[in-house]
Amino acid sequence: MSYFLGVDIGTSGTKTILIDERGRILAESSAVYKLFHPKPLWSEQNPDDWWKATVKTIREVVDKSGKSASSIKAIGLSGQMHGSVFLDKDDQVIRPALLWNDQRTAQECEEIESRAGGRRALIRMVANPALTGFTAPKILWLRNNEPRNFERVTRVLLPKDDIRRRLTGEYATEVSDASGMLLLDVKKRAWSRKLLGKLELDESLFGQVYESEDVTGTLTKKAAKTLGLTTDCVVVGGAGDCAANAIGTGVVKSGILSTSIGTSGVMFVHSDQMQVDPDGRLHTFCHAVRGKWHMMGVNLCAGGSLQWFAENLCAEVGDQVYDVLNREAAKSRPGSDGLFFLPYLAGERTPHADPDARGCFVGLTLAHKRAQVARCIMEGVTYSMRDSLEIIRGMNVPVKQVRVSGGGSKSKLWRQLQADVFGTKAVTINAEQGPAYGVALLAAVGAGSYKNIQQACAATIRETSSTPVDRKAKRIYDDRFPVYQSLYQSLKGDFKAISAVEG
Ligand code: XUL
Repeated sequence: MSYFLGVDIGTSGTKTILIDERGRILAESSAVYKLFHPKPLWSEQNPDDWWKATVKTIREVVDKSGKSASSIKAIGLSGQMHGSVFLDKDDQVIRPALLWNDQRTAQECEEIESRAGGRRALIRMVANPALTGFTAPKILWLRNNEPRNFERVTRVLLPKDDIRRRLTGEYATEVSDASGMLLLDVKKRAWSRKLLGKLELDESLFGQVYESEDVTGTLTKKAAKTLGLTTDCVVVGGAGDCAANAIGTGVVKSGILSTSIGTSGVMFVHSDQMQVDPDGRLHTFCHAVRGKWHMMGVNLCAGGSLQWFAENLCAEVGDQVYDVLNREAAKSRPGSDGLFFLPYLAGERTPHADPDARGCFVGLTLAHKRAQVARCIMEGVTYSMRDSLEIIRGMNVPVKQVRVSGGGSKSKLWRQLQADVFGTKAVTINAEQGPAYGVALLAAVGAGSYKNIQQACAATIRETSSTPVDRKAKRIYDDRFPVYQSLYQSLKGDFKAISAVEG
């Protein structure tokens, strides 16, 4: 028997699993690390923390499983997308990495659009507009704001690709994560020399681009020793966490849409052709399925909104607080008695692309209790995801089934809310480890256990539950969704004004 590791370098921590050739999970482990906000809207992490968590969790799952080092044939890497690891000529990390939810780069986004010859021209080159979370604006931010650091940069790697470097010594990436750097010609699945030229960035800064199931290298002697594995163990391309989660939930053909409620919220749909929203509201990236694409909408503070509420405004501690909030929220009425929540605590990406947007409760009365407040947070997050769904439907992309995943979807109430707000039954599947599972499957393909990722998913993933739409609740949400949508339009000027007075 051969075994495969899936490692997901997330924002709150790293999760690692070990699966066998039939896709059964033998062991799992996770390790948390810190997230730093040195200034409002800044979000940074230390790449060394990711490495320590990777080593600890790999060693733990191998120990727990009792499997021999030589039977562990391949590693798949997944990770938070868009982050920038800046390395010097000696592979030393120059400064903490800027993350996907960092909002400091508004000026650089303007600079990119203007160097590209406008927003439309940029979308023609890399399929997407410049958004603050993406990697290219982070590189320009370093050049504009920390020129001394920028002079030392010889490589810029994504979070999981820096782990790959430490594992294999290779500077490499794969198409799904590379798409989110805003430097990839998404149609050709290769770096956009045209845009790199306009931004005056050298291609040598970036790794070689692979398809997600391809082998990108083998463990170095040093890494094999550190991990207790062998130098025969290969590392496949893997995927950015959104595409990895889609693979891990079997979204590898058209008609299936997946949602994930973690810190961020993601609506993800497979596409056989490359399709681009002309207004650039949705991301069009390469899928981790060879030669295919996907479209997705990202909400920056989904589960993160409930976490903020739980950690800052609730007395209960630990995970128990979420059980209590779910119980209370489930008892209050759909629509939260007229209370609305805009989940823009970290600005917002889809559909507004507005770093100045802010979180709000609108409609509070003396009658509202914590139960409605908790419920309206969950409803507001789900409305924010419906914004993406409406754009997807507007592009005539078929959506026959919604597969829900991520920590938020473990809540029965949040699954029901998704069914009712999206108007489509919410299906769960047997594999709960989303991104880590997806890249473990890619590793199994890379090591030759399956012909391709579609075959691997068909052999391992099946539906486990289906939450039907509650028609009455759906009508209530259909009536309220336009109100939710108009609130941002009414408030966006005020958000700008708040930003201006705050400096
Ligand atoms: C995707 C995105 C987030 C991060 C979070 O575009 O920014 O989902 O990948 O992990």
